[in-house]
Amino acid sequence: MLKRFFAQTRDFAVVIRHLRLEIGSVGLWPFAGVFAVSMFVMLFEGVGVGLLVPMLSLLLGGENATPMRPIQWLQSHFPGQSPSVYLSLVCIAIVCAIAAKNAASYTSQILASRLKRRVATNMRDVLFERLHRADLDVFDRAPGGEIANIFLVETYRSTVAIESFIGYVQRSSIALFYLFALFYISLRLTLLVVVLAVVLGFTLSFVYGRLSRAGIAVADLNHRLATTLTQSFAGVRVVRAANAQRREIDEFKRLNGLQADAEYASARASSLLFPLTETLAVIGAMTIVGCAYAFLVRPGHMLSSYLLAYGFLLLRLLPLMNQLYSMQGHLLYLAGGIREVHHWLQTPIYPVRPFGDVPFTGLQHELKFEGVSYTYPNGTVALREVTFAVGVGETVAIVGPSGSGKSTLAAILLRFRTPASGRVTADGRDCWEFSPETWHRATAVVEQDAFLFHGTLRENVVYGCQGITDEELARAITVANLDEVVRALPQGLDTLVGERGAMVSGGQRQRIAIARAILRDPGILILDEATSHLDAVSEQLVQQALQNAARGRTTIVIAHRLSTVREADRLIVMEHGEVVEQGTWESLEANRGLFHRLVIGV
Ligand SMILES: Nc1ncnc2c1ncn2[C@@H]1O[C@H](COP(=O)(O)OP(=O)(O)OP(=O)(O)O)[C@@H](O)[C@H]1O
Ligand SMILES: [Mg+2]
Repeated sequence: MLKRFFAQTRDFAVVIRHLRLEIGSVGLWPFAGVFAVSMFVMLFEGVGVGLLVPMLSLLLGGENATPMRPIQWLQSHFPGQSPSVYLSLVCIAIVCAIAAKNAASYTSQILASRLKRRVATNMRDVLFERLHRADLDVFDRAPGGEIANIFLVETYRSTVAIESFIGYVQRSSIALFYLFALFYISLRLTLLVVVLAVVLGFTLSFVYGRLSRAGIAVADLNHRLATTLTQSFAGVRVVRAANAQRREIDEFKRLNGLQADAEYASARASSLLFPLTETLAVIGAMTIVGCAYAFLVRPGHMLSSYLLAYGFLLLRLLPLMNQLYSMQGHLLYLAGGIREVHHWLQTPIYPVRPFGDVPFTGLQHELKFEGVSYTYPNGTVALREVTFAVGVGETVAIVGPSGSGKSTLAAILLRFRTPASGRVTADGRDCWEFSPETWHRATAVVEQDAFLFHGTLRENVVYGCQGITDEELARAITVANLDEVVRALPQGLDTLVGERGAMVSGGQRQRIAIARAILRDPGILILDEATSHLDAVSEQLVQQALQNAARGRTTIVIAHRLSTVREADRLIVMEHGEVVEQGTWESLEANRGLFHRLVIGV
C-alpha cells in the first residue's frame, strides 16, 4: 500500500509538472493575481473565524471570565458598555469579515475562470502553431482524427484539469490556514489531525489507482474513437464499395461502449471518494474531539471554549479536505489528457536546421541535386546519392517504376524533408540558405494527390496568394484548361468544392491544382502528375495544361506515362532511389537499358 501511495504521489507530481509547463506559457502574473485574491479570502475568513473564539468565550465564560484580546481592545476603545454591546460588535465584525471574504471569493473565482479561458485558448494556439512547425512525418504517422481529438477533447480535459488545479491550490492554501489556526490552539491535537489525514490519504490510494487507470483508458479510447470516426467517413466510399458499413458500425459501437465503460468506472470510483472521505474524516474528527475532552479538557489543560472553537475549525476543515481528496482523484483521472497534450506540445520543430534569409531572386543558370540521399524515419531508403542538374528554362522529366523515389525528390526540393546527405543548389547556393518567403514563392508543386480545401473554387486557386486581380486569376484558369469547367459550374468560380475535392472529377481536381501552382508565377515548377487514373480526354486536357504551365519555366515533370514526356528536353530514369540513366528520349532508347524496358512495357 505504501508503494502504491508513493507511486500515486509521483503521478500527481508529474501531472503538476506538466501543468506547470502548459500554464507557464500564459505567464505567472495572472496566477499571482488569483492567489493574491485568495489570500484576501483567507485573511477575511481568518478574521471571521478568529473572532469566534473570543465571542464563544464571552458567551460561555459569563461576567467572571478574563476577556480575550479583541474584547479587551473593545473595552479600552468603548469603555463602560454592557457585555451584550461587545457581543453585538463582535457579531457585526464577524458578519462583515465573512461578507468581505465572500466578495473576495467571488472575485477570485471570476479571475480563475478568466485565467482558465486564457490558458485553454493559449494551449490550443500554441499546439496548433507547434504542429504547423512539425516534421511532416508526424502527420504521416498520426492516424486521421487523432490530432482533432487532441484539440477538441484532450485540451478540454486539460483545461478542466487546470481549473481543478487552481481550485486545488486555492483550497489547500485555505486548508493550510485552518491547520495553522488549529496548531495555534493545540499542537498535540493537530499533530493527531495530520496523522489521521495522512492515514486517510493512504486509505484512498486504491480509489486513486482506479481513477488514474480509468483516465488513461479514457484518453486511449478517445483517440481510438476519433480515429475510427474520421477514417470511417473519410473513407466512406471504400466502406460502401466493400459493403462494410456493418463492420464499421459494430466497431464504432464497440469502442463507444468501451469508452462509456471507462467513464463509468471512473464515475464509480469518484463517487466512492466523497462518501468515503467524509465518513472516515468524521470518524477521525470525533476521535479527536473525544480524545481532547478526555485528555485535555477534563484534566483542565484546555478550556472548553477552546475545544469548541477547535471543533468548529475542524468541522470547517473537513469539507475542504474532502474536496481536496476528490480533486486529487479528479486530477489523476484527467492526467491521461494532460499527458497527451503535453506529448504533442513536445513535438520536435522542423527543420532542425533553420532556413536561411537570403532572398531568392530567380534561377540564372541551373538547379542541381548533388548526391542527395534520404531515408524515411521508418527506415525506408528512398534516395541514394541522386545527382542531376536542370538548366534554367529546361523541362526535365523524371521517370521510373512506382516507389523509385520520384515524389521524394520533389519533397526534398520543396524543403518538406531534410536530405540525410547531399544538397540541392540553385546557381551553386544551397537552397536551404534561401528565405522561406522567396523560395516558396518561386517554387510551386502540383502534387500527385492534389488536395482541395473545403471551400470555393476561387478560394482553392488563390490559396496563399495575396492581392490577386481577376485578370491574373482568369489567366491561370485558362492556362490550366479550366475555362469550360468553370463555365459549366452552377456558381462558376464561387462553386463549393468538397474536402479532398469530392465534388469535382479527378482530372478537374488536378487542373485546379495546376491553376493554384501557376497563379503564383513560379520560376521553378514541379509537376507530380497523376494521369494514370484519367481517361484519354481528361488526360489530354491535363497534359495540355501541364505544357501550358511549363512554358517559360524551369520544370521538373514526374511522369507516370511515358507518352506524356516526349516533349521533355531531358529524361532522368530512376530505380530504387538511384538515377540509373539520363539523356534524351532517343539516346535512352538507344541505350537499351531500364528506359527501353519501360517503353516496351516489360
Ligand atoms: N511518408 C513516407 N514514410 C515512409 N516511407 C515512405 C513515405 N513516402 C514514401 N515512402 C517510401 O519511399 C519510397 C519512395 O517513395 P516515392 O513516393 O518517392 O515513390 P514514387 O517514385 O513517387 O512512386 P509513385 O510512382 O508510385 O508515385 C517508397 O518505397 C515508399 O514506400
Ligand atoms: Mg509519387
